Amino acid sequence: MNYSIAVDGPAGAGKSTIAKMIAKRMGCVYVDTGAMYRAMALFMMQQGIADTEGEEVSRQCRRADITIRYEGGEQVVFLNGENVNGQIRTEEVGRMASAVAKMPDVRAKLLELQQKLAKSSDVIMDGRDIGTCVLPDATVKIYLTASADVRAGRRYEELQEKGMVCDFETIRADIIERDRQDMNREISPLRQAEDAVLVDSSLMTVNEVVEEIIGICRQKGVGGK
Ligand code: DC
Repeated sequence: MNYSIAVDGPAGAGKSTIAKMIAKRMGCVYVDTGAMYRAMALFMMQQGIADTEGEEVSRQCRRADITIRYEGGEQVVFLNGENVNGQIRTEEVGRMASAVAKMPDVRAKLLELQQKLAKSSDVIMDGRDIGTCVLPDATVKIYLTASADVRAGRRYEELQEKGMVCDFETIRADIIERDRQDMNREISPLRQAEDAVLVDSSLMTVNEVVEEIIGICRQKGVGGK
């Protein structure tokens, strides 16, 4: 039986950084489900569909063929045969992803892909509904969060390092709006699963968070006692 580690939490909590490091340490596959929603968002943007056109998003999502491959240990997302890793990391795509993620047809389609990936290997999968919907029987469930101020601060620094012009207050407002949208949608809203362990990284370093989660995994018999 494969093991699975579900990591859920709000935008900017550090899920992907942490999950990538844990995947390397444990030798499992990292599945970034947010990237799949981002690829779906990019498809809608390419079609000129607005985030308010829910019905059109539902209709068109059938035409988006989203697949995942692993190249040199990295997850690569293909949208209708094209590698879109370089196009999905913008704030604009993130906002659209949060909007298209409300639609049941979009979620059903991506859920199938996510469950298939978890069946085929040991995984650490991050997102919003992994412990609650995608992998309700995950071996380990983590809810990783941090205060909105801390999350906004981290994103601000990340963007500055990339040489991008940004404004802290705008980023903070964006994060709060994304939390609102992801936590209040009707299907699969972001929430902590009853059996998930809460990790608040507000006052922790990346390495401390990694060690804490690896410790939780070991207690569950994942990655050696
Ligand atoms: O983790 P991220 O910022 O790349 O995700 C982008 C958006 O996709 C997020 O705001 C909500 C949506 N999403 C989701 O609804 N369910 C998931 N499992 C992952 C992401």
